[in-house]
Amino acid sequence: MHVVEAFQRQAVACEDLGSPMYAELLRLIVDDYEVGGVSVEVLDGYEDRSFGEAIGLRLLGAVHGLVLSGTAPELAAFYPSVGGTWDPVLGWEAFEQVLQSRVGEVRSLLTQPPQTNEVNRSVALFGGLLQLAEAVPLPVRLFEIGASAGLNLRADHFRYVADGASYGPVDSPVVFDPAWVGHLPAAEVRIAERVGCDIAPLNPLTDEGARTLTSYVWPDQAERLTRLRGAIEVARKVPADVHREDAVSFLRGLELSEGHVTVVWHSIMWQYLSKDDRATIEDRLEELGAQATSDAPLARLRLEPLPRTFQVELQTWPDGVRRTLARVSAHGQGLVWD
Ligand SMILES: C[S@@+](CC[C@H](N)C(=O)[O-])C[C@H]1O[C@@H](n2cnc3c(N)ncnc32)[C@H](O)[C@@H]1O
Repeated sequence: MHVVEAFQRQAVACEDLGSPMYAELLRLIVDDYEVGGVSVEVLDGYEDRSFGEAIGLRLLGAVHGLVLSGTAPELAAFYPSVGGTWDPVLGWEAFEQVLQSRVGEVRSLLTQPPQTNEVNRSVALFGGLLQLAEAVPLPVRLFEIGASAGLNLRADHFRYVADGASYGPVDSPVVFDPAWVGHLPAAEVRIAERVGCDIAPLNPLTDEGARTLTSYVWPDQAERLTRLRGAIEVARKVPADVHREDAVSFLRGLELSEGHVTVVWHSIMWQYLSKDDRATIEDRLEELGAQATSDAPLARLRLEPLPRTFQVELQTWPDGVRRTLARVSAHGQGLVWD
């Protein structure tokens, strides 16, 4: 897809997902590109990539990272994430200025795919876990593939309020209110182990890791930023290991355990796997499923586009039953349990 079309499409997505600033900025980049401005040089070599490569979000994330690092103060004045106020005229001038003065640096950052660890997806994942806990009241061994910084591995330490009920610690710095529409059981979720894998994990406990995570949150989305900061605070207190490992090899090493329900979960990572890797993972889960017993059950919980709309799906073994639990937006908002 041509970069202009991809940026226009991304602008619509940003608008729909509540970032008027990024929608505007992407359209301003398109205008600049079409008149042969600095963005032509910045995007040289990226003219024809798939939409999934998210070049627009890479560019915006790269510049946001510079703002967060404190090295672009003139532009920071227009970024709400650091206390600024967006202005399409003066903000664009400052943005263009950063592109002009730091082309090489911005281009080197474009090689990195966006690393969004979206805390809001915990709403779907934890809600799925509550439903699993009601059916299978065993302690959980939680394994996440494509875990990024592992923030969602701490989902039981966030607070969820919905439908007159609440779940999770009252003093959690991450609060979802309302978390969802629909009634969920008041089941107890006990997580005994939390481990993830990612081919490019981020450490949320380092300044650099936290800054990278923040750079991929859209700067005018105050609630997402607050949640991310809260989740990083939780991560300081609740350990979770995220291995630098691909999903196939991670699952190859996974075994079931008596007295625990082993849960494999994943959100918005399936699209990054090759067809072969997807098939290998499906086979591995079936293989583990065939070993599952009522004392050592297995579950797979996922939030993925299945195939087009985002769905929350739960599959359990030994029964092998697979259920769609909810439909939701890409960032986990607007969740309605079926
Ligand atoms: C869009 S992010 C989603 C992260 C997290 N699951 C969330 O929902 O916030 C996709 C993640 O998948 C990871 N990833 C891509 N291919 C992978 C693979 N083959 N094995 C493990 N992780 C992978 C990426 O590095 C990235 O962190």
